[in-house]
Amino acid sequence: MNWKLRLQERFWGIAPWDAKHITDEWFRAHFDYAADVVQHWVGGVLDLPTARLLNFGCGDGITDLALMLRHGATAIHGVDIRREYAKLPRIAREQLGMSRIPAGMTFETIQPGAPLAGRQPLVDGIMSWSTFEHVQRDQLAPIFSDLYACLRPGGYFFIQIEPLFYSPFGSHLRRYIETPWQHLLVSEDDLWRAIEQHKGPMAADEVDFGFADFGVDGYKKFVFNEYRALNLLTADELVEITTSAGFKLVRQERRSVDMEIPQALRGKYPDELLLNNEIFLLLGK
Ligand SMILES: C[S@@+](CC[C@H](N)C(=O)[O-])C[C@H]1O[C@@H](n2cnc3c(N)ncnc32)[C@H](O)[C@@H]1O
Repeated sequence: MNWKLRLQERFWGIAPWDAKHITDEWFRAHFDYAADVVQHWVGGVLDLPTARLLNFGCGDGITDLALMLRHGATAIHGVDIRREYAKLPRIAREQLGMSRIPAGMTFETIQPGAPLAGRQPLVDGIMSWSTFEHVQRDQLAPIFSDLYACLRPGGYFFIQIEPLFYSPFGSHLRRYIETPWQHLLVSEDDLWRAIEQHKGPMAADEVDFGFADFGVDGYKKFVFNEYRALNLLTADELVEITTSAGFKLVRQERRSVDMEIPQALRGKYPDELLLNNEIFLLLGK
């Protein structure tokens, strides 16, 4: 499949595209915002047009597409345990009027925790957006060691996580439950009941392209199972595990919300933990 794209691109160049077609808010959030943040962090330390990049947990690949089209990246390999990226050619057609995705984008489905190291050449950069809070906890250390082995010396690894578990919407259930910290306040059964009873629209930028496959009830089950699989990772733990795997801490930014902590949670968890909803982490090798 990829050789065909490469051949077409050799003859006709990158297929034309136009951001005026964008109607989907999930698409926009990744095509604009996520890609701009990655460009800001990774583009500052690597030359995107010549860098070979790996996106760990690439999802539907929209951010990779934007890095290619808007920020000059030319080689991004996306890996994920799901195959959402298979929808990208259709999504690019619908949202950008683009007849084929760039040939420099490649994708691969992996088993959770399956090692990637041992491939040559090593990559210049690795990125990961809203993924490491979903990885099974006992697989975190082996995966970070494996990714360290995939990166060339002098390369960089950028990680973003939002929302962090202990933050107001750290359950990733905000689509259905608007009460901040509800996942720390009520039982899992109560959370599921609230989701089951939810009627009406969800925030458009929170509804991914999987929704159409699952349908209303199936999506509720999927999102709830995703909540149950969260690894409860904190920003401190992320820094600790990645640096233990050998990465050097280059730069980090932690964002916090300005919200009133409910009485029931005061003293139960540190305030800082409850308010910190996002981390951007730049690591080096
Ligand atoms: C919230 S989605 C984010 C996807 C994409 N980065 C984005 O911004 O849209 C989390 C992704 O992590 C992937 N994932 C979870 N565990 C993984 C693992 N062990 N290895 C690779 N990907 C994983 C999921 O399949 C999912 O696509």
